[in-house]
Parts: sequence; structure tokens; C-alpha cells
Amino acid sequence: MDQSNQERRPNMSKITPKDLDFNALDFSYRDLPYSYQAEYHNGQWSAGQLTTDSTIQLSEAAVVLHYGQEVFEGLKAYRRKDGGVNLFRPDQNAKRMRHSAERLLMQGYPEADFIEAVKTVVKANQDFIPPYESGGSLYIRPFLIGTTPIVGVKPGQDFIFRIYVTPVGAYYPGGLKPTAFVTSEFDRAAHGGTGQAKVGGNYAASMLPGEEAHRAGFSDVVYLDPREHHYIEELGSANFFGITKEGQFKTPKSPSILPSITKFSLIELAKEMGMNPVETPIGIDELDQFAEAGAMGTAAVISPVGSITHQAKKHVFYSESDVGPKTQAFYDRLIAIQYGDEKGPAGWVVDVPLK
Ligand SMILES: Cc1ncc(COP(=O)(O)O)c(C=O)c1O
Repeated sequence: MDQSNQERRPNMSKITPKDLDFNALDFSYRDLPYSYQAEYHNGQWSAGQLTTDSTIQLSEAAVVLHYGQEVFEGLKAYRRKDGGVNLFRPDQNAKRMRHSAERLLMQGYPEADFIEAVKTVVKANQDFIPPYESGGSLYIRPFLIGTTPIVGVKPGQDFIFRIYVTPVGAYYPGGLKPTAFVTSEFDRAAHGGTGQAKVGGNYAASMLPGEEAHRAGFSDVVYLDPREHHYIEELGSANFFGITKEGQFKTPKSPSILPSITKFSLIELAKEMGMNPVETPIGIDELDQFAEAGAMGTAAVISPVGSITHQAKKHVFYSESDVGPKTQAFYDRLIAIQYGDEKGPAGWVVDVPLK
């Protein structure tokens, strides 16, 4: 028997704060009370609003389902020691989402509205923001999908902008631990492709190489450049950095990597620390220059890279078991800014009014 949409959304999986142990959260989806949604039809956005319905109803012919018109973002809300809540550079996520949408010929969501929407949905779910002491955060996932029913390959004219949020734990609850990476024969994205956009299809393409790396005992893949398979592009879903023996901060430059907000933030912090940061091609045979290496992104913040294995040869950076002092210093500074313990560059931290 056909179930009506009404019957299929009894909110039976909705959780309450009492269901959660904030000190033992992982990185998984939990069905919180509120999401946020706005719709684009006939050339204009509806007023966005909170919704308690955590499902989306779509035509079976919706362009997102067949031709992948989907872009997304990821950012976090951090509980401060004083009980307030910070966002970290949400303007950068708003801007990147607009650029991603342009690449897929989608209608971008206005940047100011994006930031307001994030604040609204965080405030509505404030009881689920992990306490300061837990080291957790509220992960925020804005996304945009093409909903027009279309058979031939062409862009949709109707879109849903939506945000869900879910509480997540500290990535390294016991302190930073280096992990091992391995290069892949697969490419994540092509020069001139969609590597600079945060589109779902890039991640579908990364699942097979990621799974192969996991099965071989590595934490994730090092993607090399798609032309020569020589220059480092990305580490799984994070950007790469190395700190040279002379103390310079280096990160790859390529037209097919995602412009990481964490990366641009570390570049600023590296300037503060007198580390003369550069974005430059980094060959896989040039790893000897680095005293330390790491991966950087919103989810894992900063993760020390213990080793990279390429063509069965393992290169160890600082140590396979201990984090290097500069990587630790970057982590400490970034986290202190995000959680409001230290002041960062102007405009990085945005307060979420909770009343
Ligand atoms: C492929 C890829 N690279 C890098 C990053 C890091 O970007 P950010 O620092 O903006 O989270 C992400 C995560 O968003 C990613 O998916």
C-alpha cells in the first residue's frame, strides 16, 4: 500500500539532548528537531524557514537524482566557555557555495541569507550544541539541489536550499595522532573539471579509492595531479600542508583542489608565526624537504600526517606516533580561535545570538 508522505514522517527518530552522551559523540547523522529550507521557483527564492520534517519530497525525475546537480558546504558551531556560540568564517562557506553553484549552473543562495539561515538553524537546535568541555561541535551541512523534473541533460530551474545540523565529537579526543596515507592511481578531479567546487559527484568518485586505501590499512588517499600524477593534490577530503626543515609553510597549488577555508586560515596564521607561507606545486618526490606534514579541513581540523606511501615506498615525516610541535601549535591556535579562547583575525568568528 502506498504510504502518504505524512505517514512516513512521524519524526520517530528525532532525538532529545538526553539521548546523547556529548562526551562520546562520533561523526554520524542524528535527526535533530529542526532543519532549514528555502525553495527557488519561477525565478525567485521563497522566504526560508525552519522545518521539523527531516525528509525531502522530490520528483523521481528531479535533475539532482540523475545528473547530480548538487552542491554542499560543511562548517561547525562551537560552544564557548561562556556558554555562547561561535561560527567560524561562515561568509567563506556562503561564497564558496555560490561559486560551486555557478559551476553547475545552479541558482546560488544569497550569501547574507545563507549566514542568517545558519544562525537560525543553530539557534533552533541550540540544546544539541556539545558543551565546551567536550571538545565537540555542531556540524552544519548546507546544501543545494536541482529539483526540476528533466529527462534530457540540461540544468534545472527549480532548487531547494536546505541545512541540517548534527552534533559531532572531537576528531581526536585523546590528542592529535598521526595517520598513514597512500597515493592512488585514481584521480579525484580533472583540471577544468569540478575539483574547485564542492559538488556531490566529486565525493562519489572518491569512494572507491578511499575504500581501497582503508582496506590496505591506510587512513585515506593522497590524490596526485590528474595530468602527470606527480604533484600532491589533496588528502582524502582535506588539503595538504608541509612545514619545511627551514620552517616554511607550504601547501599545493593546483586548479583541481577544493579551496579549503581551513587552508586559507592556516596561511594567515602561518604569516602571524613568521612562516612565510606559499601555495606552490609539491612533487611526490619532494617530501624530504618537510619536517612535518598535515591534512587540514573543517571535519578533522588539523591532522598530522605520519607517512605517505607511494609506489610501495613509505616516507615518514616527523613521526608515525607523535605529532610535531608546529602542527600542534597550529592546531592549538586554530581551536582556541574557533572556541573563542583566543582572539583571531578580525571577522573570523561570528557570534550566534541564542535568545
Ligand atoms: C575535497 C576537500 N578538500 C578540502 C576540504 C577542506 O575544506 P574546508 O577547510 O573548507 O573544510 C574539504 C572539506 O570541506 C574537502 O571536501
